[in-house]
Amino acid sequence: MSFDRSIKIAPSILSADFANFGAEIQAIEAQGADWVHVDVMDGHFVPNLTFGPPAVKAFRPHVKTVMDVHLMITPVDPYIQAYADAGADILTAHLEAGPHTHRTLQAIRAAGMKAGVALNPGTPAEAVEHLLDLTDLVCVMTVNPGFGGQKFIDMTGKVRRLRDMIGDRPVHIEIDGGVDPETAPLVAAAGADVLVAGSAVFKGGSVENPGVYGDNIRAVRAAAESAL
Ligand code: DX5
Ligand code: ZN
Repeated sequence: MSFDRSIKIAPSILSADFANFGAEIQAIEAQGADWVHVDVMDGHFVPNLTFGPPAVKAFRPHVKTVMDVHLMITPVDPYIQAYADAGADILTAHLEAGPHTHRTLQAIRAAGMKAGVALNPGTPAEAVEHLLDLTDLVCVMTVNPGFGGQKFIDMTGKVRRLRDMIGDRPVHIEIDGGVDPETAPLVAAAGADVLVAGSAVFKGGSVENPGVYGDNIRAVRAAAESAL
């Protein structure tokens, strides 16, 4: 996985058909997804429950690009090895999930994965300033985590501050929540390079009609790139 700041579209399979993950992953990759975003929720850190390590391990052989696993769970540390064994390329933990994010990021890298840190809308950019050398990705939540299909919360000021703080470090800025062709240009102009999109990619399509996924991915990408 080499580093670059080109726009990457990461469809969230939270909006896929839960009875058909393998085919859904293959369809979005065939239609131009750069990464596959996997939302792990525990019904405790967030008020919703999705899937855990055995499911993520089952997704792995279908993902030919990058498996980007977003943990919305607490605690994180007891599960890091399980997600490494499941084949996550990037493992992102929330800053708000515990008092020792510094240790968590070290442990994620020690387990052989790229380490991400996610920020809820109420958490300032400055909270990750002293973690940037341990981090490969900062995920700026533009909704309160837990559900797909929520309204975008404007965090462009936070994205700009992060972009300045990151400087030349090889750290991605990922945006998660309410990304669509209208909101993508705002965050791309502010310095984000990875755009997670659930509803905006999966709406109107299916594994039987995957061309719609492609149209949706191209629409988000074109909107983002038009702002650069
Ligand atoms: C929200 C998840 C997101 C979600 C995005 O808690 O982390 O990845 O699936 O969904 P949309 O793009 O529909 O807002
Ligand atoms: Zn997510």
